[in-house]
Amino acid sequence: MTGLTPTARELCLVVLLLSSLVFFLSRSTVPTWSVNLGSEAVIQTDTNSKDLSLTSQDDTGSQLPYQYGSNRLDGFPETTIVAHVPGWTIFDKLYICNGTAYVVTDHPDSIPDRNHIISTGKDIHNGPEEVASRLPTDKEMRIVSRKEAAEIFGVESSSRIDGVSWWVNDPSQFIMHYYHWSAELFFGLWRTYSSLDPTIPANGTTHLPPPRRMVFTHIDAHHWRDYASMSEWVTRSAFPSISFEFNQDWQERTSMARPFVFDRVVLADRSAAMKSYNFLRTQRTASVPFALPGSPHWWATIRHSVMLFSGYRPEAQEKDKYVITYISRQEWGRRMLIQRDHERLVEELYKLRDTYGYEVNVVASEKLSRVEQLQLAGRTTIMMGVHGNGLTSLVWMQPTRRSTVMEFFFPGGFAHDYEWTTRALGMVHFGFWGDRSFTRPNVPEVKYPEGFQGNEIPIDGAAVARLCHQRLTLAEETDD
Ligand SMILES: *[C@@H]1O[C@H](CO)[C@@H](O)[C@H](O)[C@H]1NC(C)=O
Ligand SMILES: *[C@@H]1O[C@H](CO)[C@@H](O)[C@H](O)[C@H]1NC(C)=O
Repeated sequence: MTGLTPTARELCLVVLLLSSLVFFLSRSTVPTWSVNLGSEAVIQTDTNSKDLSLTSQDDTGSQLPYQYGSNRLDGFPETTIVAHVPGWTIFDKLYICNGTAYVVTDHPDSIPDRNHIISTGKDIHNGPEEVASRLPTDKEMRIVSRKEAAEIFGVESSSRIDGVSWWVNDPSQFIMHYYHWSAELFFGLWRTYSSLDPTIPANGTTHLPPPRRMVFTHIDAHHWRDYASMSEWVTRSAFPSISFEFNQDWQERTSMARPFVFDRVVLADRSAAMKSYNFLRTQRTASVPFALPGSPHWWATIRHSVMLFSGYRPEAQEKDKYVITYISRQEWGRRMLIQRDHERLVEELYKLRDTYGYEVNVVASEKLSRVEQLQLAGRTTIMMGVHGNGLTSLVWMQPTRRSTVMEFFFPGGFAHDYEWTTRALGMVHFGFWGDRSFTRPNVPEVKYPEGFQGNEIPIDGAAVARLCHQRLTLAEETDD
C-alpha cells in the first residue's frame, strides 16, 4: 500500500484527468451554446417553454446575448398556420417584403382562402363595391413556393422579427374606442392567441410568452387611443414590455426591399372576420375566435394583470359582500333614462342596500379616475346601465354564478355588444325594455328604433331591483 504522499504516477494521472475534464467541458459548452442560439426560434415559439411564462421570476427574461447571424434565417423555411378562423390567424414564419405578406409554402392547399385572412384594410362601409374594394390583392398577401420565394426576394436569408408579434391590419375606424379596443380587438387577439394554451387555470397562469410588439399597417401613433385613455391603460398594464410599430415603421421596413420574417404573428383583420358565420350572428368580430379551442378562464390572465396594476386586491374584498354598480349616463347628454325613472331606480337600489346589506354604487364613469373605474368593476357582482361605452367595464368583473350585467334599451331596440361580451366571459346578461326583461336565448333582433339614442328611455326600477335580489340569492325565476 502507498503512503499519504502521492507518487509521480498518481500526480501524472490527476493532471491528465483534470486537463481532459477541462478540455471536454470547454468542447461541450461551445456546441451546446450555439445549439441553444440556433434553436432560439423554437424556444421563442415553443408553447411549452416554461422560461418565457408570464409569471417567470427570472428578471433576464428571454433575452439572449447578441450573436452575429442569430437575427438571420437562411433559406426561407415554410410558413405554417398555427391557428385560423376568418380574420384571426396565427402564423409561424410569415414573411414580409415591400409591404406584402408572403406565405411561403410548397403545400398551398393547406392555406385557407386569402380573403379570410387579410383585406386591403380600407374603412368599412356597406355595399357590394365597398366589400369588393376590401378584398386582398397580391399587394397585401401572396402565397408562394420556396423556390419562388428565393427568386422574388433575390437574397438568401431574411431578418427575424423575433418573439410573438400581434399585427393589426385594420383602419382606425373601429379602434379609437374603449369598447372596440378592450372588448373587441385586444379581446379577440388574446382569445386567438390563448387558444394555444387551453389549460389556463382560474388564476390566469399561462406558459405563453407575452407578445413583444403590436404592429399596425394603416394607423399612426395618434390613431389608436380612446377619448377616455382606457385602451392604453389596459394594454400597457397587461403587457408592460410591449412596443408598438405604426404605419411609418411599416413603410420603413417596406422601403428596404429585403424580406423580414415573423417568428410568430397573430394577424387580426376586421374585414376578413366579417366573412364568418359567428360575425353574422352577433356582429362581434371577437366572437369569431371562439370557434378555436380555449380555456374557460382564457381572460383571467389579462383581467388579473390589469387588476393588479390598478391596485385591486381580490383578497381584500369581504366574502359574500355583493356589489351592485349602476353606471349612470344621466349627465352625458345622449342615450339617457327618463329622469324620473332614473331617480326611482336609484331609490329602489338603495332600498335593496338598506334591506339586504348589498353595497350599491351609483356612478358616472366620466367622473371616476381610471383606477377607480377598474377597481370598482373588479369588485362588482351586478353591473347595470343604459347601452353604452360605460358597460365596457364588465370585462373586469370576476365571473361567478351571480355575476350579472343588466342593460337598459329603448323598447324595441337591441344590440349584441355587451350581451355577447358578457356571455363570452361566462356571465349572465339581461336586457330591459321598461318593466320587461329578457335573456338569452330569448333575445330580440338587433334594432335601433327611433328613441334608441334619445334621452327618454324608460326603466322600471322595482323590476330591476327584484331581478338583482333574485340573482344574488340565486332564487329560481318566479313565473309571472
Ligand atoms: C395557478 O393555478 C395552477 C393550477 O391550479 C397552480 O398549479 C399554480 O401554482 C397557480 N399559480 C399561482 C401563481 O398561484
Ligand atoms: C421591392 O421593391 C424594389 C424597389 O421597388 C424592387 O426592386 C424589388 O423587386 C421589390 N421586391 C419584392 C419582393 O417585391
